[in-house]
Amino acid sequence: MESLNLSLAAHKPLSGSMTLPGDKSLALRAALFSALAEGTSEINNFPDAGVTRTMLTALSQLGVEWHLEDGKLTVVGRGLHGLTKPSKHLDCKNSATTIRMLAGALAASGTGGTLDGSPILRRRSMARVTEPLRLMGELIATPNGCAPMTFPSRKPDKPLHAITYTMNIASAQVKSCLILAALAANGVTTITEPSPSRDHTERMLSAMGAKIRVIAPPTIQIAPLDKPLSPLTITLPGDISSAAFLIVAALLRPDSSIVIRNIGLNPTRTGLLDALRVMGAYIKIENPQTLYGEPIGDLHITSAPLHGIHLQGPIVVRMIDEVPALAIAACFAKGKTTIHDAAELRYKETDRIANLCRELRRIGAEIEEHSDGMTITGGQLKGGRCDACGDHRLAMALAIAGLTASTPVIVNHAEVLIDSFPNFVETLNALGINDYFHGKA
Ligand code: S3P
Repeated sequence: MESLNLSLAAHKPLSGSMTLPGDKSLALRAALFSALAEGTSEINNFPDAGVTRTMLTALSQLGVEWHLEDGKLTVVGRGLHGLTKPSKHLDCKNSATTIRMLAGALAASGTGGTLDGSPILRRRSMARVTEPLRLMGELIATPNGCAPMTFPSRKPDKPLHAITYTMNIASAQVKSCLILAALAANGVTTITEPSPSRDHTERMLSAMGAKIRVIAPPTIQIAPLDKPLSPLTITLPGDISSAAFLIVAALLRPDSSIVIRNIGLNPTRTGLLDALRVMGAYIKIENPQTLYGEPIGDLHITSAPLHGIHLQGPIVVRMIDEVPALAIAACFAKGKTTIHDAAELRYKETDRIANLCRELRRIGAEIEEHSDGMTITGGQLKGGRCDACGDHRLAMALAIAGLTASTPVIVNHAEVLIDSFPNFVETLNALGINDYFHGKA
């Protein structure tokens, strides 16, 4: 990948309305679950980004036919047990969602194969999926609990064991992996999380015919499939995790007013909106509707002075990917913002707590690092040079800080944003921001 420096400077108000590419969490699920269904699925507004390409390439290696053109993905389903054994390792690159959900799919299908990834992904623990999968009878081989993970082949008439399992951490990746495996178990599987993580898997698989029951929000029960999953016809809502950067940019830049249409507003993902509202933000939801079990609406954001907030507990799980964007809001808010219970951020694409604190300090933030979060004292950022540290969300968060900082913010190695939001710069253009610079590092 060619190295890119992205520099944004103080700017006139942001204005305009737009739609965003489809939500990546939904896109990865839609692609994989369609492959496990019987029949042909059609997924519109499919985001063509690094992570989704990673999933599609792995699906090809598993014998799945798909076609992506102009944002429309068609997938020919192979059924729960119809994947073919890949002839070489499936490379999940940096995508933990891809590797952990594929782990569930490989366990359910019984196809066998090896899941691997980049050196960064190889450092992330896979024990959180291999341990419960082993309890279900899927004897996965891993060196020290990390990728590569090798799955044995298993005949379809040999089901996995249904389990009752309590997860140590709230994680939709782990929960989704276990739900997929549970579809091929010999009875009802019960899973409990410490607090509810995003529930897209439950909603989508239920819409495809799976029997998943919410007992009480952090506990769900999954019955084995008694008929094939039905194919999907779906238009993905815009990605709230990508919208997060635009929302914060519009709130911070005085006199801004923007509308982001058709955004996914699943309550397990809207922690950022709730937090920003408590900080004084004006965010209006227009045209609310529910499509395929997922709440959707238009977001109207008007700039507003913000004040600090104390964040901990379940709301942090509901905004785990949005903490970098929230941190930028906190840097310009009045008073202190404290974030706790976010230790999971140390195990994302990078150690997001350490990198965010260090890079924000470089551009003038007053920030104290905690083992499970940070405290930011708001004021004004001076701007300057910082680094994306190989993390797409850090690249975009730091870039938007430049719109309100005293001098431009230059984000080195910003090319990584292609992982999740390849048209980030074009989207800023659509909001009237065109005095940025991007060039080779
Ligand atoms: C995701 C779940 C989250 C999130 C990731 C996407 C998903 O990870 O950070 O970007 O699509 O299931 P965890 O479930 O491990 O917290």
